[in-house]
Amino acid sequence: MSLKNTLNNYINQGYSILDLSENNKNLIEKKNLIIDQFKDTDNNYLSFNRFSDELQFEILKIYNDSNIKNFLEQLSSLTNSEVAIIPRIFIMKNYHINRFITEGVGWHKDCSGELSYDFCNNLLKNKKYVMGKIGIYLQRNEEYGGAIDVIPKSHLFIKNNKKFLRKIKGFNLRLIRFIHKYLPSFYKKFNENFYMKFLSAIKINSEPGSLVFFDSRTTHRGTPLSDNIIKKLKQIDDYHIDTPKELTKIAIYCHFGSAEGVSSYFYNKLQRNATDSELDDWKKEINIYKKYFPEMYNTAKKVIENYKL
Ligand SMILES: [Fe+2]
Repeated sequence: MSLKNTLNNYINQGYSILDLSENNKNLIEKKNLIIDQFKDTDNNYLSFNRFSDELQFEILKIYNDSNIKNFLEQLSSLTNSEVAIIPRIFIMKNYHINRFITEGVGWHKDCSGELSYDFCNNLLKNKKYVMGKIGIYLQRNEEYGGAIDVIPKSHLFIKNNKKFLRKIKGFNLRLIRFIHKYLPSFYKKFNENFYMKFLSAIKINSEPGSLVFFDSRTTHRGTPLSDNIIKKLKQIDDYHIDTPKELTKIAIYCHFGSAEGVSSYFYNKLQRNATDSELDDWKKEINIYKKYFPEMYNTAKKVIENYKL
C-alpha cells in the first residue's frame, strides 16, 4: 500500500496497515529474546523502561523509520497540528480474548473513558485531534489470534460528532454485548464469523512485523482465539491464556498523537484519579528516547508540553 493510501485508510477507515515486515525481520528473529524479558515480571505487560537497552534501541529504530516519519508528517499537515510518537511504549504477552468469557467480547474504543466528559468530546471532534496506537504483532493472525479485529469507520461518528448516527450504528454491538452477558447459551449458538459479519468487522491479516495504525476512536479488540483452541488451553484470567512458548503472542504498542489528543487523554485520567502520575512517567519515558534519538525526544516533548487542561 502506498503511503498516500495508508494515510487515507487511517483517516477514512480508522485504521491502516503499513507493511514493514521485511524491514522488521530482525525483530521477529528476536521474539524469543523478547519473551525472555518477561521472566522477571509477574505479569504479561512490560513497560518501555524495563526493556533491555538493546530492545529499547531496536524498537525506537522502527518508530524512526522514514515511512513512519512521513506518515506522521503528512498527518500533521492534514490536521494542522504537530503529531509525534508519544508514550507509552509497551509489550503485551499472551493477551487473548476468549469470546465466551471476556467482557463485551473484547470490543472497545481506547477513548471510551473520555466520552463521559464535555471537555473531551469537544476535543474528540476537533480537526486537530490525533490519538492512536501503532501495533506491531510478531505472529500471524491465525487461530491463536495474533493481531486485532477492527470495525472500519467506527471512529467517524465521534470524529464528525454524529451522536444519533452513532447510537444507531452502535446498536448491533450493544445487542451482541447484551446477549453475551445475559443470554450466554443463546450467544454460543452462533459462531464468531456470524458476529463479525453482523458488526461489519474485519480481522487484520498483517504480515508479522507489519505496523497497524488505529485511531483511539475506532472500535477494536484483540482477535479472539478460535473455539477449538480455547478448549485446549489454560485460562489465566479474562484476558490471558497460557500457551506453549512457540505459540506465545507478542504485541508491541506505542501511542502517536497531537497536543489535542494528549489533552483529552489526560483530562480523563485526572478526572478518574487526581494523583495520577502518568504524566511524570511519560516525561521519564521520553528521556530514554533522548539517549538514542534526540529528534524523537524533541517532537514528543513539544506535543506533551503543549497539552492543556
Ligand atoms: Fe485497545
